[in-house]
Amino acid sequence: MKKTAVVFWSGTGNTESMANAVLEGMKAAGAEAELFTSEQADSAKLAGFDAIAFGCPAMGAEELEETEFAPMFDAVKGSLSGKDAALFGSYGWGDGEWMRTWEEDCKNSGLNLVCQSVTCCEAPDDDALEACRKLGGELAK
Ligand SMILES: Cc1cc2nc3c(=O)[nH]c(=O)nc-3n(C[C@H](O)[C@H](O)[C@H](O)COP(=O)(O)O)c2cc1C
Repeated sequence: MKKTAVVFWSGTGNTESMANAVLEGMKAAGAEAELFTSEQADSAKLAGFDAIAFGCPAMGAEELEETEFAPMFDAVKGSLSGKDAALFGSYGWGDGEWMRTWEEDCKNSGLNLVCQSVTCCEAPDDDALEACRKLGGELAK
């Protein structure tokens, strides 16, 4: 059975709702799946997973959240070269620039992004939650 994980940060719950839908999609596709906040994740823990979904909203000025998520991600990304991964997150008023920058960072670090990232404006609607379940299912393949 494939071992998958969801690692997320969420300030007001929007990305957390997406994370739970990703987890559902992983389990529905038959994978073993665990949910971690960014504070609970480190390289040693993530090394044990076949595929990982990372979720973080647009914060700062089109950036990853800077006190918990970005330091965690910067610390683990070097150890994830070749690992299957996918990204998701909620934004507010921007045009998704933070996600494009994040995808580029992942590619430069050698992560294998297996599907299109899922973004949504503020709280995820039914379509966004379904896209998150699908993303989870892709990682479980
Ligand atoms: C401090 C702060 C900075 C933000 N910066 C951006 C931004 O640069 N671009 C954007 O589109 N939304 C920005 N937002 C909006 C959040 O991305 C949006 O509200 C999102 O739904 C929050 O997700 P969460 O509920 O998972 O925390 C910002 C919100 C806060 C509180």
